[in-house]
Amino acid sequence: MLKNNPLFLALDFPDGDKAINFLQAHNLYQVPVKVGMELYYQEGPSIIGRLKDQGHPIFLDLKLHDIPNTVKKAMKGMASLGVDVINVHAAGGKEMINAAQQGLEEGTPTGEKKPKLLAVTQLTSTSSQVLMDELLISKSMEETVSHYAKLSRDAGADGVVCSVHEADWIHTLCGDDFMTVTPGIRLKGNAIDDQIRIATPEEARKRGADAIVIGRSITNSQDPKAAYAEAKKEWEDEKRTTSSQSFI
Ligand code: C5P
Repeated sequence: MLKNNPLFLALDFPDGDKAINFLQAHNLYQVPVKVGMELYYQEGPSIIGRLKDQGHPIFLDLKLHDIPNTVKKAMKGMASLGVDVINVHAAGGKEMINAAQQGLEEGTPTGEKKPKLLAVTQLTSTSSQVLMDELLISKSMEETVSHYAKLSRDAGADGVVCSVHEADWIHTLCGDDFMTVTPGIRLKGNAIDDQIRIATPEEARKRGADAIVIGRSITNSQDPKAAYAEAKKEWEDEKRTTSSQSFI
């Protein structure tokens, strides 16, 4: 695994045993994983400890979005969990993103590495139509995502979560060191489920994404081990590192 360009396996399971059993059953030892709301809200911090004990680098995807003081305090507490990456919603604004980073800095135990802070621009399940009709955002998806990315960078985030289709121009706008992590990844021929702005691991590599997140294309596969290997091969082929920062 190239440390700078991880493929995070989304562990969207209802409980910790199911998640750990899945990893063991398919020999996915020490692979980078993403823990989201489904698993974390059932298991709490103990699931992070269990996964860390087994050597998995961890992206804790809880997408915080609240008043700056609450987000800062929550991040301060979570900084001691020892995860590698954590995130907020960029829609919370500059002050909230900055407060999140301050909380992480204050809460990271001395001598340990501060988790990278990412901000979610727009969910990859959001279409341009939803942006307009439901969220009443009259700007285009491209303008909205660009604005949120610049806002996140100015607020001190280490990078953003965005769709593959946005990764290259976010690097142009915000610099190569600003990390782009892209979910909405599907292997060729797989169902898109609730995602809208999707792409393959190969497209993600070509668009310069720094890391990818894949869940159901692997976890719902008949042969998860083979699906993981296929995704990893596509992703790492002729791999390059856009960002000079290290995720893990
Ligand atoms: O199964 P699938 O590959 O669609 O899973 C994608 C994962 O990435 C889910 O855990 C989802 O919560 C997360 N995610 C996303 N879009 C974002 C941020 C996170 O799909 N913008």
